[in-house]
Amino acid sequence: MNNLPAKPTVSVCLSPSLLHLYDVKNSIIVIIDVLRATSTIAAALYNGAKSVIPVESVAECIEMGKQMEVITAGERDGKIAEGLKYGNSPLQYSQAFIKNKTLVLTTTNGTKLLHMALTAGARGIITGSFCNLNSVCDYLLREYTHVILACAGWKDRVNIEDTLLAGAVCSKLNDKFIMDCDAAKIAAVLYANAKDNLYEFLKKQNASHFIRLAKYQLEADIRYSLSENNANVLCIYDKGRLIAGKG
Ligand code: MLT
Repeated sequence: MNNLPAKPTVSVCLSPSLLHLYDVKNSIIVIIDVLRATSTIAAALYNGAKSVIPVESVAECIEMGKQMEVITAGERDGKIAEGLKYGNSPLQYSQAFIKNKTLVLTTTNGTKLLHMALTAGARGIITGSFCNLNSVCDYLLREYTHVILACAGWKDRVNIEDTLLAGAVCSKLNDKFIMDCDAAKIAAVLYANAKDNLYEFLKKQNASHFIRLAKYQLEADIRYSLSENNANVLCIYDKGRLIAGKG
């Protein structure tokens, strides 16, 4: 009988509607919304935002803007949400625009899933994207505990891009974690087939949100969101806000 610690598990939850099936209380939850919430969060924190406050509703976002000196932003169905001045383009949150400011953000799927994980009593929450892939993996390897890679998808439907990022994380965690479900294996195989050119892969597959954003001439957002480690910062949830983590 060896006395080595048991390897932690990494699971992939392909849709928020499946989150109740997973052991959220005993896991670190990685919120994944590649197009574009978690890419925007990485860009804002990498470019010096004091914090990002994820809120569930547009009304709450607008109200916080009235009460505090913050930047309020959000989208619904990919467009700037009614009543807000800024949307969910990661390219909006340059250093010149966001440094030392607090961003209050609401999105169709990503911020909603984060609050679901909070309500479910997550042991810890970080946000993951291709933009901060290495920071995510380094953190998970340091913490070395059970992980759930939670895909935001689109209105509870599975999407390709979030599954790809989950696959990228599974691939980088390699054999140091036990891939605890078939969804993790599906994600890893998908990423292995797409990793050489993620943009062309999504385009070729007519990925639903790729099509939606391309229709709005947001290809630059897509390219930014699929670029590995271009905003390589740990985005960790702490007392109501996401902040840049150490290391
Ligand atoms: C989402 O919440 O699914 C995304 O943030 C949508 C988007 O930014 O277009």
